[in-house]
Amino acid sequence: MILSFENVSFDYNGHSILKEISFLMDTGEFLYLIGPSGAGKTTVLKLIYMDLKPKTGVVSIGEFNSQFMKEKYIPMLRRKLGIIFQDFRLLSDRTIEENLAFVLHSVNSPKKEVKRKIFNALSLVGLSHRRNSYPNELSGGEQQRVVIARAIINDPILILADEPTGNLDPVTSKQIMEILRDINARGTAVLVATHNYDLVKKFPARILKLQNEKILPADINEL
Ligand SMILES: Nc1ncnc2c1ncn2[C@@H]1O[C@H](COP(=O)(O)OP(=O)(O)OP(=O)(O)O)[C@@H](O)[C@H]1O
Ligand SMILES: [Mg+2]
Repeated sequence: MILSFENVSFDYNGHSILKEISFLMDTGEFLYLIGPSGAGKTTVLKLIYMDLKPKTGVVSIGEFNSQFMKEKYIPMLRRKLGIIFQDFRLLSDRTIEENLAFVLHSVNSPKKEVKRKIFNALSLVGLSHRRNSYPNELSGGEQQRVVIARAIINDPILILADEPTGNLDPVTSKQIMEILRDINARGTAVLVATHNYDLVKKFPARILKLQNEKILPADINEL
């Protein structure tokens, strides 16, 4: 098991978003988190990377636990996660290669090793030839692929993808999903938050649905 929510409740200033939700995610699993806009998908992801703390209940990720987590260990947790944000958050004044080097914690690694890791991650998303470009020279779909490369470069135990196909056309969306599925096939757990139900149908996996402050298993045929 890689992730567990046990009776987790959360509210923003008294406005309740999650009410005693519980679920588990297996090591190496591909899991969807669906639900309408505003249901709390991004909030769930923030609880996982501990940008937010549950009001009650416990979130566990690998050996990390929200109850006993100290602020100073949060960077250690984040280094084990690959986070694909709803907005890309690429550094616009750095090239693609520099953006990836930035998250590699490469101060002590040999230059050759850093280059190799960046090349491997970019190759996986088909963009090694664009490593010297700047983010604004890439299309939305290409930037999304860079964000995926950035998320996998530290060999995470879990990838959190927040609406990874948000503003992309159907063909590019399919490519992005294929990349995530390939990463999962290599053994990395992937959690995708989305309201794109067409994609969920094209790439079936277990589905959890957030609605009315609750989280429930959903059937693909009911989408
Ligand atoms: N920092 C905040 N302060 C107050 N309310 C917030 C904050 N962040 C989110 N909310 C509210 O909490 C609810 C859940 O937000 P969240 O971003 O988790 O939804 P979501 O399911 O990810 O939606 P979307 O599909 O649009 O991304 C929304 O009603 C939102 O307005
Ligand atoms: Mg969201």
